[in-house]
Amino acid sequence: MSIITIKTQPFNDQKPGTSGLRKGVTVFQQPHYLENFVQSIFNSLEGLTGKTLVLGGDGRYYNREAIQIILKMAAANGVGRILVGLKGILSTPAASVMIRKNQAYGGIILSASHNPGGINGDFGIKYNISNGGPAPEKVTEAIFAHTKSITQYQILESGDINLDHVGSFKLGTMDVEVMDSVIPYLELMESLFDFDLIKNMLLNGDFTMCMDSLHAVTGPYAKAIFEGKLGAKTGTVINGVPLEDFGGGHPDPNLVYAKSLVDVLFSDNAPDFGAASDGDGDRNMILGRNFFVNPSDSLAVMTANAHLVKGYKEGLKGVARSMPTSGAVDRVATKLGINCYETPTGWKFFGNLLDADKATLCGEESFGTSSNHIREKDGLWAVLFWLNILAVRGESVEQIVKSHWQEYGRNFYSRHDYEEVATEGANELVNHVNSQFETLKGKQFGNYTVAYIDNFSYTDPVDGSITTNQGIRIVFTDNSRIIIRLSGTGTKGATLRVYLESYEPDVSKQNLDTQEALGELITIAEEIAHIKKFTRRDVPTVIT
Ligand code: G1P
Ligand code: ZN
Repeated sequence: MSIITIKTQPFNDQKPGTSGLRKGVTVFQQPHYLENFVQSIFNSLEGLTGKTLVLGGDGRYYNREAIQIILKMAAANGVGRILVGLKGILSTPAASVMIRKNQAYGGIILSASHNPGGINGDFGIKYNISNGGPAPEKVTEAIFAHTKSITQYQILESGDINLDHVGSFKLGTMDVEVMDSVIPYLELMESLFDFDLIKNMLLNGDFTMCMDSLHAVTGPYAKAIFEGKLGAKTGTVINGVPLEDFGGGHPDPNLVYAKSLVDVLFSDNAPDFGAASDGDGDRNMILGRNFFVNPSDSLAVMTANAHLVKGYKEGLKGVARSMPTSGAVDRVATKLGINCYETPTGWKFFGNLLDADKATLCGEESFGTSSNHIREKDGLWAVLFWLNILAVRGESVEQIVKSHWQEYGRNFYSRHDYEEVATEGANELVNHVNSQFETLKGKQFGNYTVAYIDNFSYTDPVDGSITTNQGIRIVFTDNSRIIIRLSGTGTKGATLRVYLESYEPDVSKQNLDTQEALGELITIAEEIAHIKKFTRRDVPTVIT
């Protein structure tokens, strides 16, 4: 086995987005494309020699091939030990668990999260640092800088490692350990939640649930936890076998892409509880019988009920939410007397707050919630958190959310996505709104008056780093908001996200349909941004 050096040239499109580098599979399959990015990761890490890395992915098409390449490159770049997920599988939260538990130097996660997979789908790669969380911007920028000047990469000439069995191997001088990450993940969950109580609810009550893994990475974890440990009946986990193309589906747990689960929960004989997770297992959708829990509300309800949950009884240090996430959790934080931090979109911005013990729970409106147990969002953790609350309170999901609204008021909230629109039109839309920064302030639209309009920027309270240009906020005098930003995870054209929020303290008006309640704001958004004209779409692709 010898180390060979391959000459290469930079690709000009390897800038990591909201969550790592995501491109079509065929882009990654170009000669040197993956290798250039991986070598750029290694080049940007100081003191990597002899250290431990974690490696795995969401099992999508090209996962296995990429793992073999990365293993050989790691061996050639002096990595001491690599912990690889069995069959190459590591959910994103499990990767975070593995990095933390083994005090690894970092990890490489292969995933395009909720984007479709298969040969015509997407692939992705991201680097996580030693706290188990996504690399902060200074690291991703260093990686990007290396991709622009790379001239060569190192790779070990050797055969492939067998990923299908747990075991230890040598690749050159590097140790490779193939590990089943379900075991440490389950152990961590047991330490945080009252498994006996949940088990009792599942076995002795008439409580029924359905967990849809959407043929993505959480299948093995969900089966081990719900059907194995917690005794839920076989078949509770549906679509539980990870497939390279996610069965042709779009592994995104929302009302559109997890429609078959939504149909089950809104049918006559619906179970009490339904949940789904995404391609790499970090997102979650929570449903009750005939009831959808908006992710922003989910974070607020979890925060308000955390004292009922085993691992969080001691109280919360603080909470954090991304800027577009509704202010529902802010109201709970105020009542609890804890800080609520507002960060840019993307989990990487929570890392410092969690490390500094400023926040215990974090969440995003995009179906992401998690806590300081790891440094990623965690789909199954959120499902267990809800089950623990349900087991303690003995009420339905709907009752719990509605009594929450009664107490705190309801933040009506919706996100309208216009996926894969022409980049030019999307940029023009943003420019058009930007051009109104001076004129909109104080302007009246029906019942609403614009208090201010700005482009969100964030100063990290821990390291002082500043992140600008994180989305246009149009905030009205009653604190209602319209937020406009372009996605940083899409791979085709541009994806426009329009976030809408208004607050309703009056209980008699809280049962309105969300789109109806936000109707006037939706019209104002169109008036200000000319969404139909610039996107050439009459309706959003996904409404949450
Ligand atoms: C989207 C979500 C964001 C999430 C990210 C990764 O990013 O909006 O909250 O952290 O996916 O799952 P976006 O495409 O909006 O940049
Ligand atoms: Zn994901």
